[in-house]
Amino acid sequence: MTSIEQLTPEDFDFFLAYLNDHLSDNGRDGTGYFQPLSRHDARFPADKAAAFKAGMGVEVGAPGWRRVWVARDADGRIAGHIDLRAHAERYAAHRCLLGMGVDRGQRKAGLGGRLIDHAQQWARHRARLEWIDLQVLSSNTPAINLYLRNGFHKTGEIADMFNIDGQMFSYTGMSKQLDPARDAMNALIT
Ligand SMILES: CC(C)(COP(=O)(O)OP(=O)(O)OC[C@H]1O[C@@H](n2cnc3c(N)ncnc32)[C@H](O)[C@@H]1OP(=O)(O)O)[C@@H](O)C(=O)NCCC(=O)NCCS
Repeated sequence: MTSIEQLTPEDFDFFLAYLNDHLSDNGRDGTGYFQPLSRHDARFPADKAAAFKAGMGVEVGAPGWRRVWVARDADGRIAGHIDLRAHAERYAAHRCLLGMGVDRGQRKAGLGGRLIDHAQQWARHRARLEWIDLQVLSSNTPAINLYLRNGFHKTGEIADMFNIDGQMFSYTGMSKQLDPARDAMNALIT
């Protein structure tokens, strides 16, 4: 059984090593592309890593904020992660963006769903956010199915958004409204 906990800035380098290993699967046979990055550039970009770490210390609601949760197995290894972050646009502080991944050896065991549930509980009840948005490569069927199963709806698609390694990829937008009243109603019904 894995535990899910918030990542601290002190653990960031350990997390970055996990993330780079995770990204090394991008575009591989069997996994396919899940990030808009070339097969030959499958590392988390250094400038983004700095902003990622800095965002963990920014107050929720302020520009650039980010929070990360990791699932750890019994030996403390990272089995999966999820992060929520601010939109770049102003006047969108009631919304956030989601990113996530599950380690190649830990998939299809329900961990993706548990991570989404954990992050959305925090977003709704602790951060008082109203919407979670995300963007996903349209070819990433496992991820899209996971999001649909967890209450996200497709909001649109940009055809041929990326040209990566000579292939065109469309980009799907998805959103979920966090509605405490509706949750309470569902709990009564089920
Ligand atoms: C997309 C991703 C996060 C899904 O994580 P996951 O932990 O495998 O997700 P879940 O286990 O909750 O669900 C995945 C599938 O396993 C199935 N599953 C869940 N629990 C299961 C169990 N106990 N036994 C068998 N199958 C199970 C689910 O029904 C689902 O099936 P489906 O894809 O046919 O709908 C993971 O595949 C991943 O990290 N991919 C690469 C990175 C990525 O795509 N990130 C998202 C970028 S936007």
